[in-house]
Amino acid sequence: MGGPHAVKWRKKQGKKRKLEETLASTSGEEEEEEEELEDNEQRAVEEEEKDGDKEAAADEIAGPPVVARPIHGSKKEKGVIFVLEKACLEVGKVGKNFQILNSDDHSNYLRKQNRNPADYRPDIIHQALLAIFDSPLTKAGRLQAVYVRTEKGVLFEIKPHVRMPRTFKRFCGLMSQLLQKLSITAVGKREKMLNVIKNPVSHHLPVDSRRIGLSHSSEKSVNLVDFVVNASEDSTLVFVVGAMAHGMIDKENLDDFVSICKDPLSAACCLNRICSALEQKYNI
Ligand SMILES: C[S@@+](CC[C@H](N)C(=O)[O-])C[C@H]1O[C@@H](n2cnc3c(N)ncnc32)[C@H](O)[C@@H]1O
Repeated sequence: MGGPHAVKWRKKQGKKRKLEETLASTSGEEEEEEEELEDNEQRAVEEEEKDGDKEAAADEIAGPPVVARPIHGSKKEKGVIFVLEKACLEVGKVGKNFQILNSDDHSNYLRKQNRNPADYRPDIIHQALLAIFDSPLTKAGRLQAVYVRTEKGVLFEIKPHVRMPRTFKRFCGLMSQLLQKLSITAVGKREKMLNVIKNPVSHHLPVDSRRIGLSHSSEKSVNLVDFVVNASEDSTLVFVVGAMAHGMIDKENLDDFVSICKDPLSAACCLNRICSALEQKYNI
């Protein structure tokens, strides 16, 4: 092949190979290097997008990196499920591009549409997901599933072995892609790593689920470590936590509704506490 198209094709193959190599090495020390490669990859994709070749770029980032983790349930161990409610994830057309709206970058755009910028806080769900995916609990293979429901009621599942984008910009890029394409597949694999699914979330939970909703306003105050340690091994624990800027989760369809601290916590702090309590229970 010759000419400009061939050069472009070879460049793309090179980038694709680099990304696949990156995904293949997933252990310990290699992680930092991997992050760097991913950054370069992302920059390359961004440059390509600027060139106007948006469709090709979307194909190349069509899939978040995956990480090798022990498979939950391999020793008949119970996994844990998180449901993050009312996440502020809304796609808007800003100029020529579709973007996840946020109060920092789109305040004028939102005000012009008589919307309150303070309600647009996708950073909350990003921080919440990092708290879950970075936890030793997840690294030990105890994460069974994560479900996110947006403020607009869109429900999606995130597989436990997804490597969550660490920067906010990349996270928003992934979420925008997901909400437009409805699923994201891992590079070189068929498995859907992020997938928009039908409501209600209860249809996707195991029959032995025990749904525990968390809220500062609950009258039932518990010591989270004792609560988790004493929870029956026969049920799968499902923690429902809010990821919105204001308000609280719905109490319906919950088996328990508890407060874990006298102060109102951020979603990320609340999830750190839950993961830490489970790590103590499971000696992780
Ligand atoms: C409503 S969001 C608040 C978001 C916050 N503005 C932020 O930046 O993360 C936090 C969620 O964490 C949980 N939460 C916060 N404080 C809590 C507490 N004291 N006890 C139990 N759950 C709590 C609730 O599920 C709540 O919906």
